[in-house]
Amino acid sequence: MPAVVLVGAQWGDEGKGKATDLLGDQVDYVVRYQGGNNAGHTVVIGDQKYALHLLPTGVLSPNVIPVIGNGVVIDPGVLLSEIDGLQARGVSSERLLISANAHLIMPHHKALDKVSERYLGKAKIGTTGRGIGPAYGDKIYRMGVRVQDLLDPGILQQKIEVALGEKNQILTKIYNRRTIDANKVLDEYLGYAERLKPHIADTSLILNRALDENKVVLLEGGQGNLLDIDHGTYPFVTSSSPTSGGACSGSGIPPTRLTGVIGILKAYTTRVGSGPFPTELEDEMGDWLRTTGGEYGVTTGRNRRCGWFDAVIARYASRINGVTDFFLTKLDVLSGLERIPVCVAYEVDGVRHDEIPMTQTDFHHAKPIYEEFPGWQEDISGAKTFEDLPANAQAYVKALESMSGARISAIGVGPGRTETLQIHSLI
Ligand code: IMP
Ligand code: MG
Repeated sequence: MPAVVLVGAQWGDEGKGKATDLLGDQVDYVVRYQGGNNAGHTVVIGDQKYALHLLPTGVLSPNVIPVIGNGVVIDPGVLLSEIDGLQARGVSSERLLISANAHLIMPHHKALDKVSERYLGKAKIGTTGRGIGPAYGDKIYRMGVRVQDLLDPGILQQKIEVALGEKNQILTKIYNRRTIDANKVLDEYLGYAERLKPHIADTSLILNRALDENKVVLLEGGQGNLLDIDHGTYPFVTSSSPTSGGACSGSGIPPTRLTGVIGILKAYTTRVGSGPFPTELEDEMGDWLRTTGGEYGVTTGRNRRCGWFDAVIARYASRINGVTDFFLTKLDVLSGLERIPVCVAYEVDGVRHDEIPMTQTDFHHAKPIYEEFPGWQEDISGAKTFEDLPANAQAYVKALESMSGARISAIGVGPGRTETLQIHSLI
């Protein structure tokens, strides 16, 4: 009954799409368990490049059942246009299952995400502006609208009216915006209901039964460890739990059924949006990493902030998620460097920290302590086994492994589907 979780070990954008895609043939179900269309996965198959935001990457493999779990927040308009976009390219989403308990992103969530960010000014989070935080806020506040409400027009109407009763006051009186019309929203969402109905299911029941039948379930996290609402760099985080614990609450698969946790680690570090980032390079080296690694957001097109690999962060991801295997991505991006610095610990006010400091104030002041490794000049994208890598690349990987708290079982050496070295089996 393998149930394997895939989590981003840094700030997201580690290349999770590539990992799910690599496992595609061995997997029966791919489940998104949190987040929404703030995520962006790029999958390259042959000469086709797919950018997915809400659909699980499994939708691209005809034998996989893609599942949107209860922990996800769904913008139904975005979901349907993603489905239509794939259909136009010959990819069917017919098998898609959507949890009846997942929450819906409503027009007022998107409006509030944008105005509240503007209101914060310099203190802004740098959200993707997709309504994610306000939708999760209303879920916790018990004012959310769920997927199952689409099946009961009377309830849907009631919930929209109650929510807008409050939100319209906030929009007009605090933010000086226009009100949102409840009837228009109801009509729009009833339209979505027609198309989504065939996909709505008790996904926890289906997934647990699948595990009873020895099927392979892959739980695909969006974002990453340091964007987790509890374990990330709060408040510069997303509003859900990308960490492996979130995979259970966000899917209805119990912790005792998880069999593995794969942490996706980029061979250097990136982050989008505001917040602390100790190894950030605000110089030509950072620009070089961005250009060479193609580090521009899939969802917002924003420049990603870039820096060296941070082993403290990797160790932290290993601890919080119980990582059993790391998948190291984008090693090829580092080819051509003379020397490669790796952050092995921090210094805060003259004190060495081998683990993430307890307080955010200290993390803001953390200065990386670097160890330098010799680089390699060879193109490594053709490598098929670990032994094909230049000696210095092998040494770099081994060094990261010894500092990161779990074995490195796969290595990405190029963007394509086959440009991956597998050292240990991931399932
Ligand atoms: P939100 O998820 O739109 O509320 O944004 C909160 C923070 O998470 C911002 O810093 C975003 O840039 C970041 N974020 C959200 N989704 C992703 C992602 O998929 N990759 C990287 N950063 C993300
Ligand atoms: Mg992404």
